[in-house]
Amino acid sequence: MTQSQAAAITVPKPQDGEALLRLLEERRSVGMTALAEPGPDSSELRRLLTIAARVPDHGGLEPWRFVVIAGEARKRASEAACRLYADENTAMDPEKRAKFSAIVGRSLTYAPAIVLVVSRSDTTARIPAWEQELSAGAVCMNLLHAAQALGYGATWLTGWVAYSPGMHALFGLSEAEKIAGIVHIGTAREALGERKRPDIDAITTYW
Ligand SMILES: Cc1cc2nc3c(=O)[nH]c(=O)nc-3n(C[C@H](O)[C@H](O)[C@H](O)COP(=O)(O)O)c2cc1C
Repeated sequence: MTQSQAAAITVPKPQDGEALLRLLEERRSVGMTALAEPGPDSSELRRLLTIAARVPDHGGLEPWRFVVIAGEARKRASEAACRLYADENTAMDPEKRAKFSAIVGRSLTYAPAIVLVVSRSDTTARIPAWEQELSAGAVCMNLLHAAQALGYGATWLTGWVAYSPGMHALFGLSEAEKIAGIVHIGTAREALGERKRPDIDAITTYW
């Protein structure tokens, strides 16, 4: 049996393919500051993470994991981010340093649930690290889609928090781990606008 024959038999058809396609066609991010309570409860969050982890994964290495910051933990993370930003930017103009420390701290207080998608590629595996990192990106994307399907707004960010060694240590990342995305999830307070989308003809060639 060829692979395509097997797929035709075993891949379940979505109940409502059109609804899914519409979600994919219309999904867009909601700005972090427009996200508010309520956020997903613990069972919704578990469902979102389960969907997020259902991605192609060459070699089945599970080269990703989650760190969830929700509820009271956001305040602790926010305060730590503010302090760490100042510690890691001592050469910065003091006024700017205070301003950006506060901005970075606030960034962890808007959305009720924040999920760090941690990329943990196994560099000794036969699967290239690049492919493992792509899989981590797919996890972020799945999480965005699932959040919107559940009625929440979400956005995929990185920025200083994702790259700071101090934040990595705070969140318990090892030296080898990276943050693929910080996915903020909550209820959208503002209507979603549209942004410019790619010209498919301009980026597609038929060889
Ligand atoms: C890996 C990655 C990191 C990103 N980091 C940021 C960021 O730190 N700040 C930002 O404003 N946008 C960032 N973005 C872009 C946002 O996700 C942006 O809001 C998004 O592209 C909006 O498009 P959408 O509506 O199609 O989701 C990032 C995107 C990706 C894929």
